Amino acid sequence: MNPQQPPIAVIGAGIMGAGIAQIAAQAGHPVHLFDARDGAAHDAKVKLATTLQGLVTKGKLTAEAAAATLDRIQPASNLATLADSALVVEAIVEDLAAKRTLFRELEALVDEHCILATNTSSISVTAIANGLKHPGRLVGMHFFNPVPLMKLVEVVSGLQTEPAVAARIEALSRAWGKVPVQAKSTPGFIVNRIARPYYAETLALLLEQTAEPAVLDACLRGAGFRMGPCELMDLIGHDTNFAVTKSVYEANFYDKRFVPSLVQAEMVAGGLLGRKSGRGFYAYPAGAPALPSPDAALAQRALQAAREVTVHGSGAIADALALRAAAALEPLGFGPARLPSSAWTGLEVDGAHLMLTSGLSAAEWVIESGISDVAVFDRPLHTEPGALAYAVAPSSSPAWREHAAGWLQALGFAPQPVADTPGLVVARTAAMLINEAADAVLQGVCTEAGADAAMKLGVNYPAGPFEWLSRWSAAEVVALLQALDGCYRGERYRVSPWLQRRARAEVQNPRP
Ligand code: NAI
Repeated sequence: MNPQQPPIAVIGAGIMGAGIAQIAAQAGHPVHLFDARDGAAHDAKVKLATTLQGLVTKGKLTAEAAAATLDRIQPASNLATLADSALVVEAIVEDLAAKRTLFRELEALVDEHCILATNTSSISVTAIANGLKHPGRLVGMHFFNPVPLMKLVEVVSGLQTEPAVAARIEALSRAWGKVPVQAKSTPGFIVNRIARPYYAETLALLLEQTAEPAVLDACLRGAGFRMGPCELMDLIGHDTNFAVTKSVYEANFYDKRFVPSLVQAEMVAGGLLGRKSGRGFYAYPAGAPALPSPDAALAQRALQAAREVTVHGSGAIADALALRAAAALEPLGFGPARLPSSAWTGLEVDGAHLMLTSGLSAAEWVIESGISDVAVFDRPLHTEPGALAYAVAPSSSPAWREHAAGWLQALGFAPQPVADTPGLVVARTAAMLINEAADAVLQGVCTEAGADAAMKLGVNYPAGPFEWLSRWSAAEVVALLQALDGCYRGERYRVSPWLQRRARAEVQNPRP
């Protein structure tokens, strides 16, 4: 045993407890591992031996370090053996009564300086602490699965958690190689709350038949997300995802912003739970069907037909469009003009508009602009062009229908036709993620940097919501959300007061 590191107890030797025991032992702590089920702690240690041996084989750990780690983990046969612990991390069943009972029992055993931490993913830390003699020492230490690989730890403070206790858990998490983010105990904490729209917007788009799951997944992967929402829900399991959504909805007193989806309810009712049941949005093991390959000649036909091209708007997206349009037109001997002061961003091709979504549908832009050949395209969030949703106004000519897709292809995208829905796919999802993150900051749940770190490390987002916002503008995000609200009405798309404030601040301090 390493005499320098204080002993730590982990209670619950399931998926999470075993992972927490592993990283604590790897950091040099003697670890007591206890589970209510006889033999579970011992079994977890045996499994861990195999995991550590795997790391040794891959050259990621020395045989000595693996042996020492394993030696530090002591399966405990009763709670009394944990009495010398400086920290107890609880990872038992997700049940408030069970957790409260356990912590009350522990309080009678451990010394007064011992910190009590819960790995709960959805129960109020304040509620778990209720009834303790020293509720100030109870804190959330929310790891992500698989614990040894996921860097994020949400350090969750309940109403009575002492700031010094949260600070010590933050420091300890860092010493264990994790990235801690402070959070206030509110439903879903940071990640499970801010991530709701990633699923909810796709489920809403499916409900109104905007596109097939494989198209929506491709568009969000094209925006840099590692997995699309449909394949991700299939992986998590629709029963689990639906339960989290329902718990956040109920915990928010049925705020319509968090309302679960009929699409998912029906799948759960039918046992289409995803990968684990062999069928979710996709059938397994086959998974998502390949999208039809695009007609490679579309771009050439669009370019050949063009006589006059103007890039409207300013900013990074307009600049990128101008560069790519110039490169595409170069062989034809002319280039695009620019109109930076335009009210919209996109390409004007011989009078037709290919417009970056502002939240208005293509049909609405037809009315506003008086032009009949209109297509709107989704927001490219990512530097690498990939699949990109677009929608053509019903009034468009057959030629423009084809050329709109051809132009997107010429600009480097893989165009995906979808129904003419406000905010399309990525812009709408990103705006809602930003809006939720803004509300979390408004309510003091986390900081902007904390939200960004949590979403990147907890669910592997390609960037944090506030990073997207810094490359967008609060006024444009607000306009997009207002367009959605105008279309759907109700609480769901109400704009966070934080975002409204940010938009007003932009007016007062315009970007250079
Ligand atoms: P699990 O079911 O794999 O393990 C729970 C273990 O706790 C079982 O071995 C069970 O025998 C034991 N147990 C149950 N009641 C006990 C008690 N009163 N005293 C001692 N041992 C008891 O569950 P898992 O997935 O490891 O989750 C544990 C906790 O971590 C839950 O609070 C869960 O919400 C949370 N969590 C789970 C994540 C996940 O992805 N599975 C992610 C983050 C948090």
